[in-house]
Amino acid sequence: MKLAPSLLAADLAKLAEQVRLLEDVVAYFHLDVMDGHFVPNLTYGPPVANALRRHTRVPFDIHLMISRPARYAPAFEVGPDDVITFHVEADDSPEQTIRTIGELGCRVGISLRPATPLEKIVPYLNKVDLVLVMSVDPGFGGQGFMPEALARIRALRRLVGGRPVTIAVDGGIGPSNVRDVIEAGGELIVAGTSVYGQPDPRRAGLGLLEAGGCTRA
Ligand code: DX5
Ligand code: ZN
Repeated sequence: MKLAPSLLAADLAKLAEQVRLLEDVVAYFHLDVMDGHFVPNLTYGPPVANALRRHTRVPFDIHLMISRPARYAPAFEVGPDDVITFHVEADDSPEQTIRTIGELGCRVGISLRPATPLEKIVPYLNKVDLVLVMSVDPGFGGQGFMPEALARIRALRRLVGGRPVTIAVDGGIGPSNVRDVIEAGGELIVAGTSVYGQPDPRRAGLGLLEAGGCTRA
């Protein structure tokens, strides 16, 4: 299990400090980019991500919940260990978006809403590094985990087979269900409320790793 805490639940006025709290124990920082069009909420975009990029060596997992991801992905300053994830339902061609993100020199992730059939991403499994399974409807932090996600993770695990594709899971994950997510096949756990939404995010992050059966990332 690896942890990617979502900064959506962090104190956004102190991002650099919030990142420092957990940088020795997490695999990625997860950045939720929302455009008020693909999802009914707005967050932050390339200027904030790029400013924060200079404050930590921990890779970023940039979750684009935006329309036309291929148009905006090049504005993110990324390196070989960062991931940019887009949604298969966004209105660009997934093939083109995968190419555009790959040309930035980072890893490529694809995500899908809970209601989207897994079959939609099967054609791209040979071309991406990561699949982000949503266990809530994208758009807001703090929602309840959808238990149906567990069967989807298991099914995806079978579809991925021996390919070098990381299965990430995002939404409503905390100490009470992280074990189920891992047992189903989740490898990278995205968690906002249960980490940065807690009074002591470092303690909460370490607690979540421990609940998942892992003491360090
Ligand atoms: C939801 C975002 C998630 C969110 C998770 O649209 O993609 O990354 O921050 O937050 P929690 O852990 O609170 O569900
Ligand atoms: Zn996310």
